Amino acid sequence: MDIKRIESVLSRFPQPKGNLIAILHEMQNEYHYLPEEELRYVSKKTGVALSQVYSIVTFYNRFSLKPKGEHQICVCLGTACHVKGAQKVMDSLERSLNIREGETTEDLKFSLGAVRCIGACSLAPAVVIDEETYREMTPKKMAKTLKHYK
Ligand code: FES
Repeated sequence: MDIKRIESVLSRFPQPKGNLIAILHEMQNEYHYLPEEELRYVSKKTGVALSQVYSIVTFYNRFSLKPKGEHQICVCLGTACHVKGAQKVMDSLERSLNIREGETTEDLKFSLGAVRCIGACSLAPAVVIDEETYREMTPKKMAKTLKHYK
């Protein structure tokens, strides 16, 4: 474990006790997942039992115990997006990244996931990359967009 790295995250919280979820968010952003050793360390620093830390981590989708890519790609496969060709966009991403839905590229650059509606049906088919939402995606537009993240 890199103590300096985890201490750098914790230093953003002068009062680690009572800030567990915020700390976990910072860790997820920093590491792109929550490594076990670091979680043990945070458990000690915050005084929250490790079992409780894990129950929080496994409850929220935002947190991952497996390494995630630097960029999270989320294709909406809800009804409106599906009707407008979201599966073709997903297929094109799987081909170009050489991974399947739910996987992460070997270089840890991208993780690919799917959701069932992001509440932006008028933008269908919609794809979210990190915090950015892309509208009316096609395989061609997706390939162009992806270049900006490589
Ligand atoms: S179905 Fe895709 S945003 Fe609603």
